[in-house]
Amino acid sequence: MRICRFKKNTIYISFVSAILTACYSNSFFLKSNSLKSIEIPKGFPEIEFPADNAFSIERWTLGKNLFYDKSLSLDSSISCGSCHKVELAFSDDVALSLGVKKMLGTQNAPTLSNVAYHPYYTRLGGVSTLEKQILVPIQEHNEFNFNIIEIAKRLKHNSKYQILSKKAYNKELDYYVITRALANFERSLISGNSKYDRYKNSNNNELLTESETRGMNLFFSDKTNCSKCHEGFNFTNYAFENNGLYEKYKDIGRKRLTEKDEDLEKFKVPTLRNIALTAPYMHDGSVKTLTEVVNHYNAGGKNNAHKNKLIKPLNLSDTEKNDLIKFLETLTDIEFTKNPKFKL
Ligand code: HEC
Ligand code: HEC
Repeated sequence: MRICRFKKNTIYISFVSAILTACYSNSFFLKSNSLKSIEIPKGFPEIEFPADNAFSIERWTLGKNLFYDKSLSLDSSISCGSCHKVELAFSDDVALSLGVKKMLGTQNAPTLSNVAYHPYYTRLGGVSTLEKQILVPIQEHNEFNFNIIEIAKRLKHNSKYQILSKKAYNKELDYYVITRALANFERSLISGNSKYDRYKNSNNNELLTESETRGMNLFFSDKTNCSKCHEGFNFTNYAFENNGLYEKYKDIGRKRLTEKDEDLEKFKVPTLRNIALTAPYMHDGSVKTLTEVVNHYNAGGKNNAHKNKLIKPLNLSDTEKNDLIKFLETLTDIEFTKNPKFKL
């Protein structure tokens, strides 16, 4: 584990921390129930914090409190944490989550594991930063159905927030502080200590069972092509692809955003980190289990003109299908989902 390593332009020097810790330039200090530091797992790149939103305990603590605060929604009925549940790797266990007044969403709530690394957000990729993404659930009528200026007004008299806001950003709690603090918290949601990571970092073959090893080899093989899209440390290349979920999609996918035909029925390739915890699957939550996912790919998906050529019938035996599932289950990181620091 590398600790205390940050982007050059976000160097955080504190006199006390320089004395008390070995990693002078990049450490930050903590109070109880705060995250000690963001540990960058082996094989993971640095996290890029924007110049005006470097990590600090105050920012992170404020962000965490806002993440679980129901007063961000119009009728104070739900928080970010209602749809992004820590024990489910910050996803939800229903196909479509309920917003205020039990209004049904249109997309499946994705995991926030390693969301710091995404080059763009939402399944269509229409949002460029985590700070900007905060406005999406706040305004969506089937999520918070609210407005960030009104949220700031509502929280104005909360002295805990005001003190933290001053300490964190040296200003009163406003839209700037709310979006930045939440994004600061989200960048700490790093998951890189699954069974698979422990195996990879130690090269100790005994850490994986025979079935898991066979599944891993299948996953990274030209036979299945899984890792051509679900690639790298975060198991995604962030491309927009059609994996043949339907012959005819109800949702036209990324074309909704770009209006380009080449984006018809395409969705962002999701990470597979903690995949065993984030059912149901796909943009609409229509696939209920990993067994169904593997059956889908084994069949080569449905007939669809926009389907990526890598998706084709695989002719896997029952053992191979089971092995693939066993491998996907090794991507679960309990240390991440059971970390009390991520709870209030
Ligand atoms: C009502 C359920 C719900 C609530 C409340 C909610 N989200 Fe989400 N979240 C979703 C869904 C559904 C998506 C997928 C939206 C899409 O792709 O169009 C999503 C997507 C995201 C993404 C993008 C992830 C990616 O892979 O691109 C982030 C980040 C995020 N939410 C953070 C938050 C934060 C922070 C809050 C609170 C301010 C919040 N969400 C509140 C359901 C919810
Ligand atoms: C051509 C690129 C591509 C290939 C190859 C591919 N996938 Fe996917 N995968 C996707 C896309 C795109 C989605 C999301 C589709 C959607 O949202 O409707 C997805 C979704 C998934 C999901 C659900 C993730 C979630 O959070 O909902 C799993 C699990 C998955 N793929 C596993 C695999 C496995 C296993 C293989 C190999 C057998 C594979 N994929 C091959 C592109 C690909």
